[in-house]
Amino acid sequence: MDLIDLRSDTVTQPTPEMREAMAEAEVGDDVYRDDPTVNRLEELAADMLGKDAAIFVPSGTMGNLIALMVHCQRGDEAIVGEKSHIYLNEAGGMSALGGIQPCAVRNQNDGTLALQDILASIRTEDVHHPITRLICLENTQNICGGIPLTADYTNRVAEVARTNNLSLHIDGARIFNAATALNVSVKELVAPADSVMFCLSKGLASPIGSMLVGTTSFIARARHLRKMLGGGMRQVGVLAAAGLISLEKMTKRLGEDHARAKKLAEGLNQVEGLILDPGSPSTNMIYMNLSDEVRLDANQITERMKKQGILLDPDGVRRFRLVTHYRVDDHAVEKLIQAFNQVLADS
Ligand SMILES: Cc1ncc(COP(=O)(O)O)c(C=O)c1O
Repeated sequence: MDLIDLRSDTVTQPTPEMREAMAEAEVGDDVYRDDPTVNRLEELAADMLGKDAAIFVPSGTMGNLIALMVHCQRGDEAIVGEKSHIYLNEAGGMSALGGIQPCAVRNQNDGTLALQDILASIRTEDVHHPITRLICLENTQNICGGIPLTADYTNRVAEVARTNNLSLHIDGARIFNAATALNVSVKELVAPADSVMFCLSKGLASPIGSMLVGTTSFIARARHLRKMLGGGMRQVGVLAAAGLISLEKMTKRLGEDHARAKKLAEGLNQVEGLILDPGSPSTNMIYMNLSDEVRLDANQITERMKKQGILLDPDGVRRFRLVTHYRVDDHAVEKLIQAFNQVLADS
């Protein structure tokens, strides 16, 4: 049975074109900067994001950690969203490995951090205080609904950063989804940021890899830290070859995933017992709750769906997050709506 997998966009598999490019990739030892495919990928990433330089890293988590460690010294503080991936889902790496203290600020429902909350979190000069060095935004903001943060908002946060002598890092794991949804270039969206991490291995379908971009000196330091963290890779052009296709082709088709998420949401909205978050979806993620009348919980529904070849990831006892990606086609959308109708009617 062909599985329909809505657990995440990280479940995407390399496209046939990627597999072919991977098999034929020209490679070299990337720690010596000898891998021509990685070099091309890094140049393209820097160019597309409008920054001086880029570095290929094994994961988004490592990309964020390296960025934090370049911007902050041990004992410094970084302002992060309380619902951010960096704060919640990166195993505390910023403190455990970077010695960096998070200052968690409330995420608004639209994924933003209120400017007054950021301002109130910046430490004053005092021998007792850590030094605030960095503001981190997440775009799209995953837990708040896969919501894209606008260029205008990012500019306003950057202004706060500049005025207070801080840097701005964007965890842009899904920055191309944000740019697609807002219909702006990714360059414009990240223009005021000092560094950006984005993932090739989510909706862009590469099997592995993320990019970190910034100034030439920032990336030189990042290269040193990547080695320190064990992320220096050798003939990794086999992966960069997939990454090039992610950037050249897969970035252009994310609108399809957003359109299917909308279609799916329209169908699910008609299913008795499902309550979608207001405004969901903004990009490729749908968040929804089970109404009180539904007898089954999210785990039990997940089990029943699995029997029909549908994989779901409960996000709490009565909550789901569904994520569309290139392997979720129109047929999958229809099948999912039907399956929810049936499973909830039987419950
Ligand atoms: C917003 C966000 N940032 C960072 C990451 C980390 O990426 P990785 O799984 O490649 O470490 C993820 C992963 O899902 C994410 O959703």
